[in-house]
Amino acid sequence: MKQFISSNDVPSISTLINQALIYKSSPRKDELLGKNKRLGCLFLNPSMRTRLSTQVAAQQLGMECVVFNIGTEGWAMEFEDGAIMNGTTAEHVKDAAPILGKYFDVLAIRTFPSLKNKDADYSEHVIHQFIKYAGIPVLSLETATLHPLQSLTDLITIEEAMSANFTSKRKPKIVLTWAPHVKALPQCVANSFAQWINAWGEADFTIVHPQGYELSEEFTRGATISHNQEEALQHADFIYVKNWSSYNDYGNTPAYQGNWMLTLEKLKSTNQAKVMHCLPVRRNVELADEILDSEHSLVTQQAANRVWAAQAVIANLLEK
Ligand code: CP
Repeated sequence: MKQFISSNDVPSISTLINQALIYKSSPRKDELLGKNKRLGCLFLNPSMRTRLSTQVAAQQLGMECVVFNIGTEGWAMEFEDGAIMNGTTAEHVKDAAPILGKYFDVLAIRTFPSLKNKDADYSEHVIHQFIKYAGIPVLSLETATLHPLQSLTDLITIEEAMSANFTSKRKPKIVLTWAPHVKALPQCVANSFAQWINAWGEADFTIVHPQGYELSEEFTRGATISHNQEEALQHADFIYVKNWSSYNDYGNTPAYQGNWMLTLEKLKSTNQAKVMHCLPVRRNVELADEILDSEHSLVTQQAANRVWAAQAVIANLLEK
């Protein structure tokens, strides 16, 4: 792999999942792979899991990891070509990225969308500028529209749970359900989950959300789309809970009807479904305590698996 910004960069998702699971059983098996190599992690936005799991993964490959909270500690960065920089931005990505390419062997970046300008967000202008000017492999730690390390982790967790609990040969029924939230969130986790589940091709996949919360078909094509949560959850094996703001009415939160928070009562029609969430989660808004604190929840296992996903991806980028 030359870069890791979406499932399209991965030659074989199953191979990458297996590689991550091998690292889980033998974390230090490639501890010399990253010797004398340096990973730069740039955060334009907050993070706990992504930041720490990526650092742990790099260390287990023998690689040094330098974290820079560029969003709060760096110069305000300009991404517009030809910008007259007489405003608040102090440094152009054209000047910063080539320097980062000299300091590091692999560059990892987290950015968020504006949720105001759909075309700019969906062009992934920010990470593409770093790819263009850094001249080294670039790894997404979440971008405006996708969160590929999270999605790889989600598939690893599903594979593990299937090996432990699933006796049938049929494809698992996986439901991505919209959940309420107190503010407008990006579509990236939901887009990315849909993209990876569709590319993996091993699931009966349904996405359920209120009217007005349709995601981009670029990512959802192939999934069954529903607006009826009760119906969609029937016989589900896995339920992925996530809030997102509107894609069509970009970044807004249209009014909706009904109670969309997942509860134990709603799991009764499922196949004793396992429940997933990328975290952080708003308890008793997105997901009830009674699920998060129950045997149904995979969220801790899922977050712990972030290390193995990051390790498999960094190893592939180093091998390039
Ligand atoms: N799921 C996730 O990306 O968590 P952080 O925002 O804490 O990195």
